[in-house]
Amino acid sequence: MSDAAIHQQLPLALDSFKDPESNRPMSKTGQVGDWAVSDGVVSCRLSLTSMMQPIAGEVADSLRDHLLTTVPGVKQVNVKLDITYRPAPTVGQIGLKVKSVIAVAAGKGGVGKSTLAASIALTLERLGAKVGLMDADVYGPSIPHLLGLEGRPEIVDGKIQPIKSGEMPVMSMGFLIGKDQAVVWRGPMLHGSITQFLRDTAWGELDYLIIDMPPGTGDVALTLSQLLPLSGVAIVCTPQEVALLDAGKAIAMFEKTNVPVLGVVENMSGFTDPESGKTFDIFGKGGARSKAEELGVPFLGEVPIQIKLRSESDEGRLADVIQDPMIAKPFENICRGLVRSLVSQIASRSSISAPLPIL
Ligand SMILES: Nc1ncnc2c1ncn2[C@@H]1O[C@H](COP(=O)(O)OP(=O)(O)OP(=O)(O)O)[C@@H](O)[C@H]1O
Ligand SMILES: [Mg+2]
Repeated sequence: MSDAAIHQQLPLALDSFKDPESNRPMSKTGQVGDWAVSDGVVSCRLSLTSMMQPIAGEVADSLRDHLLTTVPGVKQVNVKLDITYRPAPTVGQIGLKVKSVIAVAAGKGGVGKSTLAASIALTLERLGAKVGLMDADVYGPSIPHLLGLEGRPEIVDGKIQPIKSGEMPVMSMGFLIGKDQAVVWRGPMLHGSITQFLRDTAWGELDYLIIDMPPGTGDVALTLSQLLPLSGVAIVCTPQEVALLDAGKAIAMFEKTNVPVLGVVENMSGFTDPESGKTFDIFGKGGARSKAEELGVPFLGEVPIQIKLRSESDEGRLADVIQDPMIAKPFENICRGLVRSLVSQIASRSSISAPLPIL
């Protein structure tokens, strides 16, 4: 086929290539352009939003494969990636402008929810997305400590100004109460504070709002699902049998409240010796993967026990330690898995949860 004939076919091929974020054919969204064809070699530009940056390379690869298989005569495809802007919708009744709200939860305390929620938020941001982090553990907020953040949020024009970790807005009860102050909450107060965090905080426009859930997630999960459509939840568990049973219960609870389970992460999956880089299985390994398979939810990946991750985050330097390539790697895989899982939720529209009525 001549270059001119290929050129004519190319935009038509986009009828069957969908934008992962909007699930609309790219022939309609105008995200591919600047076509050039020379001796069967196609060049084009692919624009993706900041939300899709974590998987931009994969989307470019599938566009390349799509053109190679659907347009006769194409020998090679060079895709140049570019960033485009698409405004975030307003979700729920509360005026939050965010594309996706992801809760990080577990069926058990102390399995690494807060560490993983903060690490996932920081990694999504490093991969190019606009991210906010909300600590929904109003009883025992630990996000400010992990990120070495302090200060009292100011109120400007009636909105709570979140504290920033670099560029990332963070909101936590830890900013509002003293360090060693104990908080006794009644149900309505808990509901009120979570509502304030979501509705009255100046989050700006976000791609992802990551929510660190408290242990024993029932109440807060219900409050959240009444306020906004949660895009999904990532379940953290450790490899022991008991922890896996609890993870199964957490999954069942979220499915009951119509929140899609985006996947399972196995934390403390073996111990990585900082000297040799070798990983030793302490509690066994792979339990979460088989549990996820058994329950029909995606497995997002494993995070080994890393001494540096614990010691640095105990000193408030999680944002620095997450840049270390050895620590960053598993989180990059988990974040890509999360975005992929979200994309397949978008594609199967029906599974996006609707907010429950406020009781
Ligand atoms: N992969 C890991 N390697 C080393 N230490 C870890 C890892 N994950 C978590 N930790 C450590 O385990 C402890 C508990 O983690 P974290 O506070 O994140 O758990 P949690 O599930 O949020 O706990 P809670 O239920 O109390 O909210 C912390 O000291 C943290 O530094
Ligand atoms: Mg926690």
